[in-house]
Amino acid sequence: MIILGIETSCDETAVAIIENGRKILSNIVASSIELHQKTGGIIPEIAAREQLKYIVPAIKEALEKSRLKPKDLDALAVTSGPGLIGSLLIGVETAKTLAYLWKKPIVPINHLQAHLYANFIREHPVSSSPLCGIPTECQCPVFPAIGLVVSGGHTDLILMKNHSQIKWLGGTRDDAAGECFDKCARLLNLGYPGGPAIAATAAKYIVHKTENKVKLPRPMINDDNFDFSFSGLKTALLSRIKELENKKVKINTYEIAYEIQEAVTDVLVKKVLKAVSQNQVNSLLLAGGVTANPRLKEKMKEALEKQQIKIPLFIPEPKFCTDNATFVASCAFFNFEPVPWQKIQADSSLEIEEVIKF
Ligand code: KG4
Ligand code: ZN
Repeated sequence: MIILGIETSCDETAVAIIENGRKILSNIVASSIELHQKTGGIIPEIAAREQLKYIVPAIKEALEKSRLKPKDLDALAVTSGPGLIGSLLIGVETAKTLAYLWKKPIVPINHLQAHLYANFIREHPVSSSPLCGIPTECQCPVFPAIGLVVSGGHTDLILMKNHSQIKWLGGTRDDAAGECFDKCARLLNLGYPGGPAIAATAAKYIVHKTENKVKLPRPMINDDNFDFSFSGLKTALLSRIKELENKKVKINTYEIAYEIQEAVTDVLVKKVLKAVSQNQVNSLLLAGGVTANPRLKEKMKEALEKQQIKIPLFIPEPKFCTDNATFVASCAFFNFEPVPWQKIQADSSLEIEEVIKF
């Protein structure tokens, strides 16, 4: 089955054509990030206007690259939420129009659930813990699985019994982990998006434990739930910066970036490990832009090894961690539930809970 997926929930205009949920026939991602870098964050109005320009060329390019014609497609899939409403509308209304014109079934997709399907795409190498003990040819997650979706807008822990039965275990009560990186990077004048900037700055810090001057909290790390809270980190950082400035102590941006990264990743790793330990699962799936963080990968692998949890860890290649349409089409293949195009609506506040089926 060949599915053309469309993703426009944030600033990307992405179109991909995927065969049988795993094989990439084409993958186009146009981004307006350069326009948003000037303002230090996404301006929804500008993102949507750019998406209006890119969407038709991106669809044409995806068809050309795959050497397919619309008649060769079996179905369309589109992110219907959550996301920026103006952006979602561009993708959703375009997909509905094409479904009507091309007479194709169309599947609305929840962006958060879709992120996890970056781990099902066959073309990119799947990294797994050296201790997993599962043969390398087994390159597809085995259910039940724990999924962590950690992006600019979301931090959600999910138990996937199988494709159609998923249960939300917990999530952030305020800022998402990526949002925390973005806001902290702004405080440190590191630019936008903040996650890659913090990671790059932190990587230049040479750790001398005794010299660590800035200690940030690890919010909710020991709480008996699967929830997160990251908004306090940026406030803590702000007050530490002010304190250092008042004492006329030179701010070591490398050290601070390192500590922010440690604080966020410590909490993520601890809660994920707890979810894995409390549920009998066969795989761990990470997804979303923050998963591109090398330190998170490193710590997650170390933690699994330390606790002798021998399940494979799936982490998409960085370009599949951030928003693209491959995972939208893949998610539609594995959850093929077409809806009459007239019934599909963009929903900016769609929750992961809405795909729970048990
Ligand atoms: O999944 P994504 O592309 O979009 C959303 O659905 O939100 O995630 C974007 C987020 C941004 O907050 C960005 O700062 C963060 O992912 N991010 C990273 C890294 N690369 C992107 N965070 C930490 N380390 C990275 N290397
Ligand atoms: Zn996303």
